[in-house]
Amino acid sequence: MFEERYAERVKNLSPSPIRKMMAIAKELMAQGKIVYELNIGQPDIECIPEFVQAVNRKAQTGQINYSPFTGEKYLRETFARYLNNFFDRRHLRHLVVDTDNVLVTVGASNALNNVFLAICNPGDEVLAIEPFFTPYIGYLGLADGVLKAVSTRAENNFALPSEEEIEKLITPKTKAILLNSPNNPSGKIYSREEIERLARICVRHQLFLISDEVYREMILGDEEAFSVLQLDLGDEEQNEKLKNLMIVIDSASKSFSLCGIRIGFVVARKPMIDKIAMVTAHSVACVSDLAQYGVAGAYDAVLARPDYLYQLRQTYRERLDATMQAIEEYLPHVVAPRPAGAFYLMIKFPEFEDITEFCLYMLEKFNMGGETVAVTPANGFYLDPSRGRNEIRVALVVSPEKMRRSIEIISEALKAFKLHKANQVRPML
Ligand SMILES: Cc1ncc(COP(=O)(O)O)c(C=O)c1O
Repeated sequence: MFEERYAERVKNLSPSPIRKMMAIAKELMAQGKIVYELNIGQPDIECIPEFVQAVNRKAQTGQINYSPFTGEKYLRETFARYLNNFFDRRHLRHLVVDTDNVLVTVGASNALNNVFLAICNPGDEVLAIEPFFTPYIGYLGLADGVLKAVSTRAENNFALPSEEEIEKLITPKTKAILLNSPNNPSGKIYSREEIERLARICVRHQLFLISDEVYREMILGDEEAFSVLQLDLGDEEQNEKLKNLMIVIDSASKSFSLCGIRIGFVVARKPMIDKIAMVTAHSVACVSDLAQYGVAGAYDAVLARPDYLYQLRQTYRERLDATMQAIEEYLPHVVAPRPAGAFYLMIKFPEFEDITEFCLYMLEKFNMGGETVAVTPANGFYLDPSRGRNEIRVALVVSPEKMRRSIEIISEALKAFKLHKANQVRPML
């Protein structure tokens, strides 16, 4: 068969459940159905105007050129200032980030893939806290790496296992621990103590500590997220070792509603940045200079007026409040812990064994006044196929009114689905 001619690394890859739902939703929308797309972390918020102005200014020069493969110095400098300022404004002790510590990438997705390509040999393992952002498997798979899960449970507020439990998962092939806080999909913010636990393990076993902090600005309660850049192991030698192992991932996608511009960042010590930059140099060559100038304009803007990002937090809190209230009203039987950060909500439906069929039914067969909802079955956020089967993830990406309406639609779709199933098992003449 011709299929056999494909490389092993792509044979087992398929679109993530998020993308599968997105494709169906887009098709239905093209046919005129109104679909609230709560299945993907793509906010409906307009991007910051300074981004548009910066893109226009650059475009009008008529010079759209190759960029250095580490990224435009102007953006790297601005992003380093933004990051230092993020901690300084809150009077938090942190490692000072310099321009040389920043690499620009094609979104956080490409940042993660490039990091894995730079640190993994075929068969190397990366431990990720489960539930995790499903595409991690593919980013790592393309680097011939293997993801292993450190399981956490909603019942236990997604608390990290003990140091000993985590260490049991480490083998000679383990290269890194991958952390995402605030977390997609659980909304969990990991504590200083939990992140120090991971850092100690990483130093002891010489593992990279990759910290995906793309939701650093998305705080839904009173608790700020703790960044690995704030780590202090209380010992100079340990701290020094840790700095060589630490890799932070960030992105303009969520903070500025710029998912489509595809700009992300890696923050690490310079020798590590230089190595990862080689992956850019030998794959995409460089990141779009027009996009980089636009995004630099966005970071420059929030340095001058940080209230923009405070307002953004407020927007997501209002969406979450409306959603939680609607769940209480329309879906009183579900389990839906209030997330502390990011902009997702996990909802468990105890009456289901597998919720995928319902999600597809609601999207394809159901409508309420011509409207329906796309959500993501949560099973894909777990490596263990038996987990997350009766859970969905919804993204807080539309207005409070639309979030409320979506929950109402889910509740009506549930009733219709139960009837539909009951009719299916009716004996036929
Ligand atoms: C946890 C996490 N990491 C990385 C990404 C990828 O972000 P980007 O759009 O910058 O590629 C996402 C996107 O949803 C995410 O949720």
